[in-house]
Amino acid sequence: MNGIYEHCMAAADHIRKKIDADGAIGIILGSGLKKLSEEITDPIIINYQDIPYFPVSTLNPNDSRFIFGHLEGKKVLCIKTPLYYYEGFDMSDVVMPIRVMKLLGVKLLIITNAAGGINESFKEGTLMFIDDFINYMGDNPLRGPNIEEFGPRYPDMSKAIDPAYNAKAKKIAEDLGVKTKSGVYIGFQGPSFETPAEIRFARKAGADAVGMSTVPEIITARHCGLPVIGISCISNMAAGITEKIQTVEEVNETTRNVEVQFKKLIMGLVEKL
Ligand code: HPA
Repeated sequence: MNGIYEHCMAAADHIRKKIDADGAIGIILGSGLKKLSEEITDPIIINYQDIPYFPVSTLNPNDSRFIFGHLEGKKVLCIKTPLYYYEGFDMSDVVMPIRVMKLLGVKLLIITNAAGGINESFKEGTLMFIDDFINYMGDNPLRGPNIEEFGPRYPDMSKAIDPAYNAKAKKIAEDLGVKTKSGVYIGFQGPSFETPAEIRFARKAGADAVGMSTVPEIITARHCGLPVIGISCISNMAAGITEKIQTVEEVNETTRNVEVQFKKLIMGLVEKL
């Protein structure tokens, strides 16, 4: 035993003293999509710094927190600042929040992220349901001794995204009048953006959107039996798809512009899923 399970248990025990997240919906708020957290009522903030063994974001140390509360009358546990592999963390640290959510009794995880559009029918602001993914990050969160308490050595990934929740979520989006697409997300390690050649390669491999996150979280959720769905906000078209060079400012600006639609969608999902 390498201590990962014990560390997750200790973290969960600490959090359980402050909140009851049993049956809550977990939400990861990707870059530029943080504003949703302002809608949470009766918020209880749990800073990563205070949780035993918990990694703290190097990008936003002061905003590394869970926010627990209610959205549309439902219990939610939000991750305000995800941990990125490119920050230098071990994969087991990147996915610790997911495992702790499972131990706390979270019933469904909704992952959101900002991603580059590879599919040429997409444009900036497109919201894409992640139907499947390609792990191109060069690592896997399940590498190393298997933690039997969480799941099997060789977990099936043929339905990594929960098909029933995903279908229901798309129907809810349609009923709300929020336009969405569906596609395959490819995870690169980052932090450099991709080259045009890498994006041509990813397109040929069947990817519709590209990012630097989410894949470890989906694999881990699936491994530990936590149903997961994902939505990418296309913040820019990927390298070589358009002539423009992408910048972090551009990513944030686009996500700010689609925030209204995005908020409406997530609130609808929380209410109805
Ligand atoms: N590439 C990788 N990650 C991203 C991108 C991109 O073009 N846009 C937002 N996150």
